[in-house]
Amino acid sequence: MSFMIDEIVQQPDALERTLRKELPRVEAFRRRLSHLSIDFVSLAARGTSDNAALFGRYLIEISTGLPATLAAPSVTTLYGVRHRWKNTLVIALSQSGESTDTNLYVQAAREAGALTVGITNESTSSLTRMVDEVFFVHAGREKSVAATKTYTGQLLVLYLLAYALGAPIPPKSLERLPELARRALRTRKQVAALSERYRSMNQAVVVGRGLNYANAFELSLKMMETCYVVAERFSGADFLHGPIALVERAFPVFVFSPPGPTSGTTLDILRRLRDLEAETIVIGEATDAAMRSISVPVTGRVPAGCPRDLLTPIPYIIPAQLFCAFLAEQKGLDPDHPRTLTKVTRTI
Ligand code: F6R
Repeated sequence: MSFMIDEIVQQPDALERTLRKELPRVEAFRRRLSHLSIDFVSLAARGTSDNAALFGRYLIEISTGLPATLAAPSVTTLYGVRHRWKNTLVIALSQSGESTDTNLYVQAAREAGALTVGITNESTSSLTRMVDEVFFVHAGREKSVAATKTYTGQLLVLYLLAYALGAPIPPKSLERLPELARRALRTRKQVAALSERYRSMNQAVVVGRGLNYANAFELSLKMMETCYVVAERFSGADFLHGPIALVERAFPVFVFSPPGPTSGTTLDILRRLRDLEAETIVIGEATDAAMRSISVPVTGRVPAGCPRDLLTPIPYIIPAQLFCAFLAEQKGLDPDHPRTLTKVTRTI
């Protein structure tokens, strides 16, 4: 069995551990923030961590109303710009804590007056020394080059940071996440069987929106690095503004389909794809009996004032991760050691 599959399976325990160990520090950070005025949030990261950052951007904007953005590290690292940060929280995410540009960016932001936070899986990494506050993903060392358990761990810490920033997301409500992750792992057999059908797939599109937009990026990144499938990702809206033109009969399109604010537009896309006779794979709620779907029910109430898709991103990415791990096997590839990649990539 690959490390990747092993690490996918470890996710419920890693989530439980992270919630238990980080909550007291998050509560303290929440008290600290209550004396400060934060008007803007910027998130810096690369690769899978950047996909988690994209989730964080949507989560923070949706749940707190604070404007949030993804950092463009080269503005600092190559153009040498010193931002005029004012009342800003800069969050750096890196599983290794050693991504050079992420670290340079957050270091410069701290020097220029931003409040800085790091999220990492490595307790002695460089990132931990460059930020005002650090929060850990307690996932255990990630051996596979393909990040999985650290992605969902970062998502969990981002829920906690949103809470610290004033979001109506009581930490108690997050205690459901490990169990939802466990249930998502029950798709394993179905996903393994489904992956056989795509053994010779070499191109695909992934669509997601809102809180699941980041998952579209993450599934396509996993497909590219572990299966060498050319996978483009789009928000459902952007997809309709042009790229849908490339879809012809039997073209594979993976669609994240949660309940809540994005479900109406997602259904419209599914209808268009049915008319085009695309090969559509739906992850989430089974919305169209005629399509292949990996059903991941996320039942139960969400906290008052939160959208219905709030807790879907972690359970929805799990079958997608499994799919990539199994598809790599189908293709005779080693998902733990994609060609030409190493675990830490140092770019500036
Ligand atoms: C994805 C992957 C890479 C890393 C990226 C950032 O599976 O392995 O894209 O996510 O190199 O690494 P960290 O998070 O260590 O900064």
